[in-house]
Amino acid sequence: MLKVAIIGTGNISTRHIGAYLTFPERCKIVALCDIFPEKAEAKKAEFGLKDAKVCASHRELLDDPEIDLVSVCTPPYVHAEIAVDFLRAGKNVIVEKPMAASLEECDQILAAERESGKTLSVIAQNRFTNPYMHLKAILDGGKLGKIVHAQVDSYWWRGHCYYDLWWRGSWEKEGGGCTLNHAVHHIDMLGWMMGLPESVTAVLSNASHDNAEVEDISIAAMRYPGGALAQVTSSVIHHGEEQQVIFQTERARVSAPWKVYASLSKENGFPYRNEALEAELQADYDALPDLPYTGHTAQIDNVMTAIETGTRPFIDGVSGRRTIEIITAIYKSGFEGRTVALPLQLDDPFYTVGGILKNVRHFYEKSASVENLADSGITVGGDGK
Ligand SMILES: NC(=O)c1ccc[n+]([C@@H]2O[C@H](COP(=O)([O-])OP(=O)(O)OC[C@H]3O[C@@H](n4cnc5c(N)ncnc54)[C@H](O)[C@@H]3O)[C@@H](O)[C@H]2O)c1
Repeated sequence: MLKVAIIGTGNISTRHIGAYLTFPERCKIVALCDIFPEKAEAKKAEFGLKDAKVCASHRELLDDPEIDLVSVCTPPYVHAEIAVDFLRAGKNVIVEKPMAASLEECDQILAAERESGKTLSVIAQNRFTNPYMHLKAILDGGKLGKIVHAQVDSYWWRGHCYYDLWWRGSWEKEGGGCTLNHAVHHIDMLGWMMGLPESVTAVLSNASHDNAEVEDISIAAMRYPGGALAQVTSSVIHHGEEQQVIFQTERARVSAPWKVYASLSKENGFPYRNEALEAELQADYDALPDLPYTGHTAQIDNVMTAIETGTRPFIDGVSGRRTIEIITAIYKSGFEGRTVALPLQLDDPFYTVGGILKNVRHFYEKSASVENLADSGITVGGDGK
């Protein structure tokens, strides 16, 4: 029976708590921690967690021999400190996206994981959805040839007051804008399916949120070894949030939401439809089994299985760091106004939080800072449907 602590009891903690409660025979939530302890008390009451202790600092839990596994659900600027403290205290850690606010902080977490021998996983729950798992299986299935182009539309929409929350819209506390905090899901998918690009060229802007220091849109072009390109739009200004990831491969176009189209060449180079390949890929897709669980529940099930069986979790810190490396390259390229080569070097100014803060531009200054927004529900997008 794994004993679980939740650190940060705001919006996303609800998904973690709900996921743990799905597996009452395998785990029990024993602690809830928030710098506003009344928020932890409220979650305790909402979910009937009678035996859970409530505290205001994660440090109060470090020496607690009861705790085996910790979900870090705080704003990004404290992910690294809290994850490192718990790993060093011998606890397994699940950290919400984004893994951390800089590559240096990711490396500190990875070092603490190595030294402790404990399990670390970074949330990327939208991988655990049928459309994305199935798309990955089709891409890996060997019938498509190499990927030649990817189109990532990480389109989200957030109202003006979204950035009035005290930690959002600030380079120091949120760590970035929509590229880091929203497109992180789709950039994780891209890294999972295509690996690290060799170069990134990006433009950044804040077109619609004059109460935030950070970008609300970025457009990036990525080049991969072998010549493939990817275009990645990260946005919180797109009504309808029509998110999609489309791969053009040598033999067909496949995507989430799922659609397949394949072309063959006539003798003059013009296309005609390869209906046989489309039918074959559709049959392969339809034959793939649905996941038993999706989203946070699936990822938390996977991490608990890793701990129970001494195996690696499906989404580890190395892939969490790769996502941060691609995002950091987008910021570096956008703010330096040039194409950036990857991997980024350890002496790069964008490797550290201090260097990032010195080199980014405040599009606007934060004009409000409220302790809490109304609890009117959140959406987490990205399910590929
Ligand atoms: N996976 C997803 O789809 C998804 C969706 C939303 C948010 N998130 C991520 O989850 C994290 C939290 O976002 P949220 O929307 O829940 O924010 P939130 O503001 O609703 O909740 C964060 C909570 O952490 C508390 N907190 C802040 N600093 C703390 C500290 N040092 N120790 C303990 N508690 C602390 C805050 O008081 C707050 O209650 C962020 O990293 C965000 O990017 C992930």
